[in-house]
Amino acid sequence: MKKIDIIEKFEDLPSPSYVCEENLLENNLKLLKKVQDEADVNILLALKGFALHSTFDLCKKYLKGCCASGLHEAILAKEEFGGEVHTYSPAFKEEEFDEIVSLSNHVVFNSFNQLNLLKHKAIGKTSIGLRVNPEYSSVEVDLYNPCGDFSRLGITKANFDETQLENIDGLHFHALCEQNVDALQGALKNFEENFGEYLAQMKWVNFGGGHHITRDDYDVEGLITTLKEFKNRYPHLEVYLEPGEAVGWQTGYLMATVLDIVNNGMNIAILDTSAEAHMPDTLAMPYKADIRGALNANEKEFTYRLGGNTCLAGDIIGDYSFDKPLEVGDKIILEDMIHYTMVKTTTFNGIKLPSIVIKKNDNCYQIVNNFGYNNYKVRLS
Ligand SMILES: Cc1ncc(COP(=O)(O)O)c(C=O)c1O
Repeated sequence: MKKIDIIEKFEDLPSPSYVCEENLLENNLKLLKKVQDEADVNILLALKGFALHSTFDLCKKYLKGCCASGLHEAILAKEEFGGEVHTYSPAFKEEEFDEIVSLSNHVVFNSFNQLNLLKHKAIGKTSIGLRVNPEYSSVEVDLYNPCGDFSRLGITKANFDETQLENIDGLHFHALCEQNVDALQGALKNFEENFGEYLAQMKWVNFGGGHHITRDDYDVEGLITTLKEFKNRYPHLEVYLEPGEAVGWQTGYLMATVLDIVNNGMNIAILDTSAEAHMPDTLAMPYKADIRGALNANEKEFTYRLGGNTCLAGDIIGDYSFDKPLEVGDKIILEDMIHYTMVKTTTFNGIKLPSIVIKKNDNCYQIVNNFGYNNYKVRLS
């Protein structure tokens, strides 16, 4: 069994560490459960965004299961979560597919080619769905827009072959990213216009992820109403949502330490973390994390550029200002670093992966994973 160290004081945490706060996670889960209960839908955890399996005993009290992006996530879902497993990949590998079927309650194909290649392995063993593309393009950043031009994700109306629906139980779409209910309503409108005629013969629909349900300004009541109205139109359909980000949203931070301060026209603090390796969306989106006690450059007296400990010139977390000068050894708390972080980390430059810590409701810290040289070596040869 994995050894779990318990630490009482924040100052004693290993650096860097992702620290997930159990009570904040539970608040998110309770809100998702409210949607699930009041709208009579099923909410699955999207492992691609949040796979902190030490918390799954808690998560499974509230959610119905997991959605997986392929074999490894499906195994994790089965081993650590239980409940339903729904697996979708842009393309399944033939040699992995029998195992995926054995683990999954639903499998969702991204094309008729894949359906025809693999359906003989799935019929009678799992429920089969197709991912469709509602061509509702409302995500501004192309990198995160599943419905952008030339998207490979989901079958468009023009490519939809209604003669091939014999073994199909459900339709799935994923069109959103960090959006409110108005975006779901827009996507649903297109979905029903383009594919509504096939819903009578389906058993379920899946509205994917990207619903920012746990964000403060999300219209939760609006979502419940929208889902209920959909269910009134199609009472025979089981409805699924599969958020990832909304589960891990604002549930903790990445704690890092200042290793050095250099000056080249401005003060630059080098941290024992990396935007590139530990918080890649910072560079990809791009976005700027909030830092506890800090504001944007020049809003407080002492401004620093915070940089990562890799060779990448652009490994910059951002420019921030503080009330007092930073010193070597100071701890920096980068907020909201639980979703889409530890699932994406790399060991670029051999940098140590952040430890993973759960802050329990009794305020002690459980170090659930610590990483070292072996985690770097094992991925190379
Ligand atoms: C098919 C599918 N389902 C669910 C999700 C989870 O989305 P989010 O974490 O934004 O809620 C994604 C994210 O890319 C996805 O591609």
